[in-house]
Amino acid sequence: MQFTVTSLPGDGIGPEVTSQAICVLEEVVTGFGHDLDLDEKEIGGVALEKFGDPLPASTIQACLASHAVLLGAVGSPAFDHNPRELRPEAGLLRLRQELGAFANLRPAVFYPALAACSPLRPEIVKGTDILIVRELLGGLYFGEPRSIDGTPGARSAVNTMRYSEPEIERIARVAFQLARTRRRRLLSVDKSNVLECSRLWREVVTRVASDFSDVQLSHMYVDSAAMSLVLKPAQFDVILTENMFGDILSDQAGGIVGALGLLASASIGGPVGLYEPVHGSAPDIAGQNIANPLGAILSVALMLRHTFHLPKEAECVEAGVISTLMGGFRTRDLARPGERTVSTEEMGAQITEFVRLAAHASARAAS
Ligand code: IPM
Ligand code: MG
Repeated sequence: MQFTVTSLPGDGIGPEVTSQAICVLEEVVTGFGHDLDLDEKEIGGVALEKFGDPLPASTIQACLASHAVLLGAVGSPAFDHNPRELRPEAGLLRLRQELGAFANLRPAVFYPALAACSPLRPEIVKGTDILIVRELLGGLYFGEPRSIDGTPGARSAVNTMRYSEPEIERIARVAFQLARTRRRRLLSVDKSNVLECSRLWREVVTRVASDFSDVQLSHMYVDSAAMSLVLKPAQFDVILTENMFGDILSDQAGGIVGALGLLASASIGGPVGLYEPVHGSAPDIAGQNIANPLGAILSVALMLRHTFHLPKEAECVEAGVISTLMGGFRTRDLARPGERTVSTEEMGAQITEFVRLAAHASARAAS
């Protein structure tokens, strides 16, 4: 298979984790007999510095001409005081829009090897395997009008939460379909006791459910969901929710399984899939070769599964991560006091080597 991928390393630790993810992807390509056409472009702060635009036209063009995009991270304190459109984050939000990526999948899986990383007791977090399906192109992030107006001292700010029935319906369908590939339980999270958007959300999701009678649908208010997520994380299967609630709950899910650095995401639904770790640019540790590359590497696994429909290759990368963790390899964020740590590059090299051996073994078995 021919893969055309654009890599957008971005800011902070983005380049370090992306380069490890690319090594793993290249090993998959070689080992399983595929072909990779890889292009690298700018986004976020690096693009602002070079082009004065967090998402230059050359980046959009390259992304739209590929099958999938692998993104590192965006965000840099240097641009904190820029107007909203000239912040690194604006580049990412526009990219999601340009790619039509309305469905953001964020799996949060508990790895027994990392039991000591979770702040929760092992018997509570054990078995946690959640897929958050976050609506990515609507709600407060994109709603108009939005502004800060008035004279200093007396200003007011406005954001708009807006959802249309088609927007809710399309994300609900994605979530129901995914629930079918898992334990067939879907929890829709809203705030329908207060918000009109949520009342419409609940109504539309309930209507869509009639096409998926094999999936068990339930509803929860977001405040209550946040509490249950901590009290009983293992009871959740697929969580469907709007943009802002999903942003918050997915970081919380990262904390529950022990490290945000492990979480990967897929943003799909449009012609080109966007794959990125859930963590940010972490400027405080950038350039030190200590960041955790697993979120980026697991994003490659999601790319193999959702864009290239290659479950065997995806599982191989995931198995490499599990085996590396079981082997005791820990980046600094995963280590307990006194445990030996490895660098970003060493961690990446472990997974790459696992993929190399696994691909070799599978080729031998096939011949
Ligand atoms: C995420 C991030 C982004 C978001 C930011 C960087 C715009 O927090 O992907 O979760 O809020 O969507
Ligand atoms: Mg976030």
